[in-house]
Amino acid sequence: MIADIDLGHGLRLRTLTTCDVDLVVEATGTETSQALWGPRPSGPYTPWEAREALDAWDPAAGRQASYGMLKHGRLLGALGLMIDGPHSAELAYWVRPESRRQGLALRGINALTRWTHDELALDRIWLEIDPANTPSLRLADRAGYRYEQRLPHHCRAWTASDPDHDTWHDCLIWAHTSLTTSPAT
Ligand SMILES: CC(C)(COP(=O)(O)OP(=O)(O)OC[C@H]1O[C@@H](n2cnc3c(N)ncnc32)[C@H](O)[C@@H]1OP(=O)(O)O)[C@@H](O)C(=O)NCCC(=O)NCCS
Repeated sequence: MIADIDLGHGLRLRTLTTCDVDLVVEATGTETSQALWGPRPSGPYTPWEAREALDAWDPAAGRQASYGMLKHGRLLGALGLMIDGPHSAELAYWVRPESRRQGLALRGINALTRWTHDELALDRIWLEIDPANTPSLRLADRAGYRYEQRLPHHCRAWTASDPDHDTWHDCLIWAHTSLTTSPAT
């Protein structure tokens, strides 16, 4: 799951490891909500939280990895790939607040989608999106993903620590297959 892709104009997409704690702490410094690696923390990461997150996404374990978009040594955003079957992986994405609306996520998704089909030989890459997340829905469409289905009460809001007392909202599933003709070429 090790990737190192030149996205042009000084932008690089590469696998993040536990050596990247400082990058995650700096990149999440202005975040007020959840970033890529999980629902907690909501907001900036401490060094301890960054290390724990990167440990959980250790590419050496072979099931999930996170990929940083880096420019001039700064982490501008990250994508996550979670393998959930012999032919399939879930993709997630996040861009630091001050770097949004500059086309970064689109470039990252296009590159990682193509790399996952080609290098990992996975046919299906899928997204799980909150119906209220308009930026993510538009991005999915721009990246050539196709709407598949709505799963009722599937996604947790993480407003309570106990899952039985939390709110669960619908999720929209979008997917990209190796046969999809899309901008991700
Ligand atoms: C969703 C997110 C990753 C988009 O990142 P980004 O780098 O700003 O996206 P891009 O600049 O590449 O935008 C590409 C396209 O996505 C759509 N888009 C992105 N942000 C949008 C917004 N705020 N409103 C409407 N459309 C938006 C547009 O179609 C845009 O193309 P355009 O700029 O030519 O109109 C970013 O807003 C983010 O990190 N949000 C918080 C985390 C999150 O919600 N992740 C997804 C969980 S499913």
